[in-house]
Amino acid sequence: MILIGFMGSGKTTVGIELAKILDKPFIDLDQQIVLENNMKIPDIFNKFGEAGFRQKEYEALKNVIEKDAIISTGGGIITYPDSFDLLKNISKDIFYLEIPFEISFNRIKNDENRPLTKSKKSDLKKIFEHRIPLYKELSDYSINGSESVNEIIHNILMHKK
Ligand code: S3P
Repeated sequence: MILIGFMGSGKTTVGIELAKILDKPFIDLDQQIVLENNMKIPDIFNKFGEAGFRQKEYEALKNVIEKDAIISTGGGIITYPDSFDLLKNISKDIFYLEIPFEISFNRIKNDENRPLTKSKKSDLKKIFEHRIPLYKELSDYSINGSESVNEIIHNILMHKK
């Protein structure tokens, strides 16, 4: 099972709980990138730019995608065509945690560990809007991410094959 969605949509929180319930390993792709490169995400952005980060994100995705685990992805993964295609062609359930921009923004605005939050609010909103159709195209199910973690998990488990 793979979780996608914008920053602050709850992918990691939900993924950790789901993994416990389903007794499967949890893989946070951001964490995987940090481990593989031995660098923090803002440092990767500073040194290699966003394009370099996306390449590393794709490599990390390739390394874990076949695992029988709950995988939570970074919000921008869908913008990199190789990652998009890899996700498109995998036969695993992909859940999109859908939340309104304002909720996401309030959760992430002061997060030093997310380089894109340095963007102006209006620019971040444009990024958000640009990504929505990509999340929708890729996911098997859209889940309302504004609900409580328990409700989100309940809704995901209803759809799980
Ligand atoms: C990003 C989202 C982050 C992380 C990086 C870039 C994005 O992951 O991969 O900061 O472009 O939306 P989260 O969605 O887990 O915050």
